[in-house]
Amino acid sequence: MATAKRSARTLKVAPVLELKSMKKRYGGKLVLDGINLSLAEHEVVCLIGASGSGKSTLLRCADLLEPIDAGQISLEGERVAFEDRSADATRRKLGIVFQGFNLFPHLTVLENVALAPRVALGLTQAAAERRAKELLKSLGLAEKAREYPDRLSGGQQQRVAIARALATEPKVLLLDEITSALDPVLVAEVLETLRSLALSGMTMLIATHEMAFAADVADRICYLEDGRLIEEGTPEKIFGAPRDPRTKEFLRRVRAISAPGAKRRAGTRVKRTVRAKR
Ligand SMILES: Nc1ncnc2c1ncn2[C@@H]1O[C@H](COP(=O)(O)OP(=O)(O)OP(=O)(O)O)[C@@H](O)[C@H]1O
Ligand SMILES: [Mg+2]
Repeated sequence: MATAKRSARTLKVAPVLELKSMKKRYGGKLVLDGINLSLAEHEVVCLIGASGSGKSTLLRCADLLEPIDAGQISLEGERVAFEDRSADATRRKLGIVFQGFNLFPHLTVLENVALAPRVALGLTQAAAERRAKELLKSLGLAEKAREYPDRLSGGQQQRVAIARALATEPKVLLLDEITSALDPVLVAEVLETLRSLALSGMTMLIATHEMAFAADVADRICYLEDGRLIEEGTPEKIFGAPRDPRTKEFLRRVRAISAPGAKRRAGTRVKRTVRAKR
């Protein structure tokens, strides 16, 4: 029994990403106030909350783009800090995609995607391009490889940005409102891409205002308000039976401004082949 217990402990896999008591200030304002959040391998977590609640700041701090004022960040059990942001070993574990694509306009789609593995992982040009082509193909963009970003639709550009983030084979993908600059039709195509990534077992932390999408794809929903993680739970719990009055009020306001047809379809979560260990 003791041996079984010990080996279970030894085998316990560290979270892919772990944020402990994370605090972030801008000027005098506490924008993140003691965030505790961890992502297991293959887990998809959606951050929801009103504008200004701290979702983007949380992702930027987790991606080591911003220094934090207190707390700690760990990747696969190893503590990392802002100072490590350019260290290859750290950098390659994290992929981030922003709302505004941020593609290089003077590089082709293929060059945009091949750049990171060449620079961050030291792959040869040929190897980096091979990887980039595979990724573009898997995202339905093979025929766009030689185009420049401005010849692509917003949805296609966003998928190129996702391909670029995946090119270093990150352990966790951080996605910040990546559909909010897109037309509804293009939103659907990008969300479909994320659904496939979730099905393939990619670990993701996603800030989103798309509640139906969050309900569909997430293992866990985290509700943020004023830099605090107010409540977390399965989509069924958070959308179906939130406990905290603040979560209830936020969802009431969101539903009030959604068209009736845009309401969440209950119980429509995707079945994934790879499930998070709980
Ligand atoms: N670079 C910055 N300098 C000063 N304050 C900032 C900075 N970035 C964010 N903030 C402030 O931090 C708070 C959280 O902002 P953040 O962008 O993280 O919110 P959000 O939840 O992502 O909002 P949205 O849904 O509108 O994207 C806001 O009050 C914002 O004004
Ligand atoms: Mg934001």
